[in-house]
Amino acid sequence: MCIYGGTTCAVIASNNPEVVVTVVDLNAERIKAWSSDELPIYEPGLLHLVKKARDGARRNLFFSKSISSAIIEADLIFMCVNTPTKQTGPGAGQALELDYLEGAIRRIAEVAQNDKIIVEKSTVPCRTAETIREILDTTGRPGVKFSVLSNPEFLAAGTAIADLLQPDRVLIGCSKTPDGYSAAGALADVYAAWMPRDRIITINLFSAELTKLAANALLAQRISSINSLSAICEATGADIEEVTYACGLDSRIGPSMFKASVGFGGSCFKKDILSLCYISEFLGLAEVSAYWKSVIDINEYQKDKFTSRIVSCLGNTVTKKKLAVLGFTFKKDTDDTRESAAISVVSRLVAEGAHVSIYDPCAKTDQIWRDIGTYVTVCESAYEACMNAQAVIILTEWDEFNNRVTTDAQRSSDRLRGPQPGFVNLIRSKLDWPLVADIMCPPKYVFDGRNVVDAGKLEELGFRVECVGKPSMS
Ligand code: UDX
Repeated sequence: MCIYGGTTCAVIASNNPEVVVTVVDLNAERIKAWSSDELPIYEPGLLHLVKKARDGARRNLFFSKSISSAIIEADLIFMCVNTPTKQTGPGAGQALELDYLEGAIRRIAEVAQNDKIIVEKSTVPCRTAETIREILDTTGRPGVKFSVLSNPEFLAAGTAIADLLQPDRVLIGCSKTPDGYSAAGALADVYAAWMPRDRIITINLFSAELTKLAANALLAQRISSINSLSAICEATGADIEEVTYACGLDSRIGPSMFKASVGFGGSCFKKDILSLCYISEFLGLAEVSAYWKSVIDINEYQKDKFTSRIVSCLGNTVTKKKLAVLGFTFKKDTDDTRESAAISVVSRLVAEGAHVSIYDPCAKTDQIWRDIGTYVTVCESAYEACMNAQAVIILTEWDEFNNRVTTDAQRSSDRLRGPQPGFVNLIRSKLDWPLVADIMCPPKYVFDGRNVVDAGKLEELGFRVECVGKPSMS
């Protein structure tokens, strides 16, 4: 199961007290974690929600290893299995691996004794629903009828609960037959328990499948577009924050997903664009594939360019220099490090001989070592990482790293976040930048890969500050 399957089910269960939701997984360890107070993922507000539905007076959320009996009892089955990028065989490195999905479908076909609605939640290539239906129809028991729906998830890490509770829209893709509409209606009823009906949209099955890939590709494309402009800003003296602010005020463009950064990461953007490229190539649309591939290319360029700037500012060599990295996750409010820009940046700095010390409030030490090897030091505090360092490199926009005034919105998001057993207490105080200045060594650079610091204030403390999309000081 993909880690967000459990999150979606917790939201469904807590809003539908009369519906019994059972989450099953082949991985027994993961089920054990979901049944405990140390959930397999950190997501603000998740533990509270799970505990309410799982342990409260009206228990209706269950985590189980008994896959067959859960299938037999269910009327509606959400398929939330992982679909990572294929590692071997045709399409390796681009196409989505549908092995787990197919395995799950065959298991359903084998054990289902009555009609079921199968809801495809995993990200899949367009027309996968047809393959699912073929497998079910050819291998299912005679007389058992399956309806296949596509219901892609648009939740983002760190804001998953809010995204699920107040989504812009819920998409339900169904075949345009009476059976298809009836299955879509049953699924819509589940969401209507907490969502206005007019935000639940029913579209063609394959449009829903493609929309998931398309939405992620379009969001990533906005970030690559703005990152490509940040390079022009650095070379000309324009300021990317002013450019994005001014462009974002145009209501046709809008301000969201428009922040220049060291590069986007996460489990979805790169994977989904690669899948879109593969589909395009498969369909003989080489130019379309090249267009989307360029979004990934700019992202790689951005990470590399940021790293080159660090090396160049530090006298064209980082060998044996101590560098502090603040933030390792792919964004704030998550413990997820998949495809994090930090992996590329730190790996290259290590390859160039730097001594890198990393502090992240949520990323697990073992995970950091799995991502980049044990050549780096993982620290318990930002101060330990910064001690005697020549430069601080901010790679994740955790609130505690910025030296701006804390807003009410931030304070309330802090309250929502923690504390959560198994994770560092996430209500933390802001970084004491004057103290950081005292414990660092010259030239005391701050490389801000997220444009979170007030550079002017840091310069008053003796730092030299380099931000994305702003001209270099040196
Ligand atoms: C994304 C989609 O937003 C979500 O709808 C989909 O279901 C899953 O993929 P996620 O990967 O969790 O969600 O995070 P998102 O907030 O989209 O950020 C992705 C990456 O882009 C992060 O590394 C983030 O730091 C970066 N980013 C985001 C920017 O660099 N600039 C921005 O303006 C926004």
